[in-house]
Amino acid sequence: MSEAGAPGGADELLQRLRLHGAVPAHVAVIMDGNGRWAQGRSLPRPLGHHAGMTAVREVVEGCLAAGVEVLTLFAFSQENWRRPVDEIESLMNLLEEYIAKEVDELRQQGVVVRILGETDRLSPSARRAVDRIMGETSDGAVLSLNLCISYGSRAEIARAARLIAEDVAAGKLDPADVDEDAIARHLYTAPWPDPDLLIRTSGEQRLSNFLLWQLAYAEFYVTPVLWPDFTRRHLFEAILEFQRRDRRFGRVSV
Ligand code: IPE
Ligand code: IPE
Ligand code: MG
Repeated sequence: MSEAGAPGGADELLQRLRLHGAVPAHVAVIMDGNGRWAQGRSLPRPLGHHAGMTAVREVVEGCLAAGVEVLTLFAFSQENWRRPVDEIESLMNLLEEYIAKEVDELRQQGVVVRILGETDRLSPSARRAVDRIMGETSDGAVLSLNLCISYGSRAEIARAARLIAEDVAAGKLDPADVDEDAIARHLYTAPWPDPDLLIRTSGEQRLSNFLLWQLAYAEFYVTPVLWPDFTRRHLFEAILEFQRRDRRFGRVSV
């Protein structure tokens, strides 16, 4: 029997979560621990980032199998621009490598890819790559894959405020109509519902400026697994745990 098909393997977990209840429509992931994964093997940090690509493939395929509709991955934060230049360079090269390698399969799988963040900070060749993957997957209707790159949530909220102020100044929006929906409509994530489940790998218990507005009622799941070791089985475990949670949204349980 294959590892996936063994008791407690990925296939069994997938069966269980299908029977168990609602699958989260939107899963967000802070992919953390690449550096520590490499360090643990006495390898340079870029090799940890490279190994993390396999985990990206795992979660995309896991989401397709489980019926998750939106997957939002935190790949590079605005604060990550403070890292050493060679690490930034290797991450940007990896982005281009990922796109070149995966674009055809993602399109065939019905995945539509969007990049969320300040993409004008990317190099011209990285920008060409992200434009390519967004263009070539734009017909995908099975899974929305959002890659947050050069993304910071406070900057995203400030940008929304600026866009709203411009609409007000142009007479297109009445200040009385600036409500929660108006703000949500001006965030990068406007087309999608808020995440139901947030996963952070590597044991860190913080948001690191990720989706501060959108995670208001998400269930948090922190796992000690380092990102390059994360497989679809870990995703299914997180979804099973999510299905056991009592989401009250401020009300009392029934
Ligand atoms: C996550 O892994 C990837 C990025 C933030 C780009 P890290 O590079 O943060 O890995 P650790 O936290 O140092 O182990
Ligand atoms: C958050 O991880 C950003 C990404 C996963 C892309 P970091 O490793 O940069 O976060 P901190 O510095 O530990 O908070
Ligand atoms: Mg980290």
